[in-house]
Amino acid sequence: MVGGAGLGVGHRGDGSLLLMAPYEIRVIGDPVLKQRAVDVTDIDGRLARLVEDMVQTMYDAPGLGLAAPQIGVQQRLFVWDLNDGTGAHTLVNPEIVESAGEWSYLEGCLSVPGLSWEIVRPKDIHVVGRDLDGNEVSIEATELAGRMFQHELDHLDGVLLVDRLDDDQAKDARRQVRELMWAIDEEPVAPRRGLSLR
Ligand code: NI
Repeated sequence: MVGGAGLGVGHRGDGSLLLMAPYEIRVIGDPVLKQRAVDVTDIDGRLARLVEDMVQTMYDAPGLGLAAPQIGVQQRLFVWDLNDGTGAHTLVNPEIVESAGEWSYLEGCLSVPGLSWEIVRPKDIHVVGRDLDGNEVSIEATELAGRMFQHELDHLDGVLLVDRLDDDQAKDARRQVRELMWAIDEEPVAPRRGLSLR
């Protein structure tokens, strides 16, 4: 499915209705993932509808976060839900203003389905941006939450987790990514469940 024509409705195997993601998630090899997204200029109803579609796409994947370029929209915003009971959130024009520490985590990405690598990044970050009402937001996050923000912000800068690997990881990764892209050419690859997908 391509485009934001609203929610599709499908059927699960047991006959129950299933809301389907309105957008297809772009995967590695798609040039849109390598471009820097532009600042959001209007926080309006149109953006809110885009966010609804992004959240549905994220839940359907399923992933912890989704950045707009992953559905082909070159704007600086992302959505997330860390399963902490607070639901889905949006950050518009985000910026990391402080970071500290170091933390290694097995990181995956919905745009690089089925692959993950241990990546070292700052452990604690302070991110600012705006919410869907246009209000300023300031969030301090650590470990998984901090990682999610850094990962999604990378997407807005056209950076994928394969660009964050050290030299030792990069050689194997190039082969794995090549094989993944061949597989994608042949048939859609479903993201594996249970990975730290974002
Ligand atoms: Ni990702």
